[in-house]
Amino acid sequence: MLTEQSAATVRATLPAVGAAIGEITERFYARLFAARPALLRDLFNRGNQAAGTQKQALAGSIAAFAGHLLDHPEQRPDAMLARIAHKHASLGVTPGQYEIVHEHLFAAIAEVLGEAVTPEVAAAWDEVYWLMAHALVAVEKRLYEESGARGFREFEVVERVEETPDVVTFALRAADGGPVRDFRAGQYVSVRVGLPDGARQIRQYSLSGAPGETVRRITVKRVHGGAAPDGEVSNHLHARVRPGDVLQLSGPYGDLVLDCGPDTPLLLASAGIGVTPMIAMLAGLAADGHRAPVTVVHGDRSPADHALRADHTVYAAKLPEASVHFFYERDAEPGTRTGLVDLTGVPVRPGTRAYLCGPLPFMRTVRARLVERGVAPADIRYEVFGPDLWLAQA
Ligand SMILES: Cc1cc2nc3c(=O)[nH]c(=O)nc-3n(C[C@H](O)[C@H](O)[C@H](O)COP(=O)(O)OP(=O)(O)OC[C@H]3O[C@@H](n4cnc5c(N)ncnc54)[C@H](O)[C@@H]3O)c2cc1C
Ligand code: HEM
Repeated sequence: MLTEQSAATVRATLPAVGAAIGEITERFYARLFAARPALLRDLFNRGNQAAGTQKQALAGSIAAFAGHLLDHPEQRPDAMLARIAHKHASLGVTPGQYEIVHEHLFAAIAEVLGEAVTPEVAAAWDEVYWLMAHALVAVEKRLYEESGARGFREFEVVERVEETPDVVTFALRAADGGPVRDFRAGQYVSVRVGLPDGARQIRQYSLSGAPGETVRRITVKRVHGGAAPDGEVSNHLHARVRPGDVLQLSGPYGDLVLDCGPDTPLLLASAGIGVTPMIAMLAGLAADGHRAPVTVVHGDRSPADHALRADHTVYAAKLPEASVHFFYERDAEPGTRTGLVDLTGVPVRPGTRAYLCGPLPFMRTVRARLVERGVAPADIRYEVFGPDLWLAQA
């Protein structure tokens, strides 16, 4: 909780800081990467940096955290902190790195706001930063303890499956032959690859196999850049990685996990490559003998573009009460529907918990329809395959 004096100062300066936060984070990253180039080369996602999306996520989360401290001083925004901490833990972020971020963030604030940053203002925002940083460090410490390790481990590719022209699945086994910790359906791993220019870049991939398997499976869609550059890591994995090659993987992290009993009705809605966590969830539900109805919804460009379609169908069929609704923009077959996902006629049971994964516009639409159909907003969970620009609203 903020001290009373800091709360008054943060309240008075939040509009000015909020208005300048885009510029502050711009300068912050410029300073950080000038002082520590290895952080951009080997830790931060340089595609997101170039596209500017990660900057918005960081700025949004600090402003949202400050707002939350003022409006609800008695509670912590746990969902937001968990999402960030899981991402950080998958990247191996250390407590010492918070000092480095602090140094460059506060230098950037002073640079942008100039004389408005009196000692009181600096002290109040320092308090906000460290409240957030300590909360994140505490969750990250717990995650590292649960995982038994921090950082990356070598995994050998034991199988490569071409799912669609743009999607490949890799099955990976720990190169040291040792056991791997089981994951919870819906979690992801960070994958670190060495690129031709010497950089080591990290991306997250949801685990698309069944929990309990001895191999890790990830299913990767190649990102075509169009006018922008092609995605670095996904194209590297597609073009260069074959059985026998070694990738570096973090432990499993991520807070979009199934957390309900066997009698909770579920709705799993995905679009495109957002199918990956849903496959692990369906496999987990089938293995656990989930009794309640499960509504499976998926949208894709065509059946041929629908990665892991066979797994989607086979795992759903193992559930006693599943209804499956596939939507394709073209080439829809009997039993599937033409067009974008449309929940008209799709069963949504009372007390449903929903898990969504796909592009943001898809998730916004599905979420709005589910709320109209009576699903409690708190029962709608989602995963974003990029910096989470919804976080600030969490
Ligand atoms: C929790 C989580 C789970 C995920 N699970 C999966 C999964 O199961 N399967 C999957 O395929 N993906 C998944 N992703 C997405 C994955 O992590 C990567 O983001 C994706 O593979 C793209 O990475 P890339 O390196 O190929 O693209 P990047 O190089 O990171 O590029 C990303 C975007 O930035 C653009 N860009 C790059 N440089 C510039 C520039 N100079 N100017 C403007 N734009 C630029 C690119 O065109 C591209 O659109 C997941 C992400 C998260 C966060
Ligand atoms: C209080 C301090 C911090 C805040 C508020 C913060 C906030 C965030 C947020 C909101 C995200 C995006 C999460 C998502 O959408 O999934 C993120 C990702 C990330 N953070 Fe932090 N962070 C902090 C400290 C740090 C530190 C100390 C480091 C290490 C130097 C770090 C490295 C990263 C990296 C590498 C990513 C992923 C970047 C990407 O994929 O583009 N962060 N952080």
